[in-house]
Amino acid sequence: MRISATPYRTIWPLACGAVRVIDQSRLPFEFETLDLTTLEDAAHAIRTMVVRGAPLIGATAAYGLALALRQDASEARIAEAVQVLRATRPTAVNLAWALERVRAAIAHLPPGERAAAAFAEAGRICEEDVAQCHAIGLHGAEIIRALAQQARRRINVLTHCNAGWLACVDWGTALSPVYVAHDAGIEVHVWVDETRPRNQGAALTAFELGAHGVAHTVIVDNLGGHLMQHGEVDLVIVGSDRTTAGGDVCNKVGTYLKALAARDNGVPFYAALPVSTLDWSLEDGRAIEIEARDPQEVTHISGRTAEGALERVRVVPEGSAALNLAFDVTPARLVTGLITERGVCAANRAGLAALYPERAA
Ligand code: MRU
Repeated sequence: MRISATPYRTIWPLACGAVRVIDQSRLPFEFETLDLTTLEDAAHAIRTMVVRGAPLIGATAAYGLALALRQDASEARIAEAVQVLRATRPTAVNLAWALERVRAAIAHLPPGERAAAAFAEAGRICEEDVAQCHAIGLHGAEIIRALAQQARRRINVLTHCNAGWLACVDWGTALSPVYVAHDAGIEVHVWVDETRPRNQGAALTAFELGAHGVAHTVIVDNLGGHLMQHGEVDLVIVGSDRTTAGGDVCNKVGTYLKALAARDNGVPFYAALPVSTLDWSLEDGRAIEIEARDPQEVTHISGRTAEGALERVRVVPEGSAALNLAFDVTPARLVTGLITERGVCAANRAGLAALYPERAA
């Protein structure tokens, strides 16, 4: 996607062997990039959410493993690097998926060839992610087009967190259909949940949509239900950090409540995700490990002062406990459909098996 007319991806390798990422911890106020040169750099970037979003942390982990092998590509080093990277964030399955994919691509090679092969595999993961996210956009835009033809007015999409191009390598998952529809001339407006505690919606989704010229309005997380009751939401599209073979959708905390409100108001609720987000080993989403993050993300909030300084202030009384679980699971029965790179399917084993017969087997 473009920022001030310059095309960007969220991650790309440099000729010197380092990997460059957009530093998302500084957005929307400062656009800066950061160079990762070691395993520790990559692990730190994922852990501190300099990079975030399921597909992007997968891509970063893949490059992180490649960076780790530059000096030492022994079996022991591979195992250590995989362990360090896997421990950074437990919920998004893309991370473990990408690490296993790179490991499999280099396992049969002599140590001297492993780093280069790992970089090449990480590059392929990125290219595939771009193609898959674009395909998700093409399929999802047909849903928006159909609603627009029926309603003959602007379509209002509600989304939670950031599942746009910043969460992937390019295009995004939940926002890709919005971009494709917008670019095709379909009038679309996005209700952007601010997404406490880290405000990925207010900071990142609003930044992306604004940069692309898509009409949008930031709302507090609790407004969605009211808007649905008043006919102001035509559909909900969210991303996913892990979707089970049974169609349960794990995504940013708060997604479940949006799905409940959508069901109560007859609003279609879709999750958009590439194949790397599917966890074929799990049926029931309640088995997914939910990441517990620092309570300070709840007790404090960051922003820019009128003077231009980035500041963090406390919003909870000293001494009050805070709980910061980063994701929740929306049961498949509340999900209208899954938008994937292969098309739209029902959120259940049969629906997924029809799109991915080779995986379901
Ligand atoms: O904690 P984050 O910002 O990594 O959470 C991101 C989300 O929950 C996204 O919706 C999900 O990763 C899908 S990204 C295409």
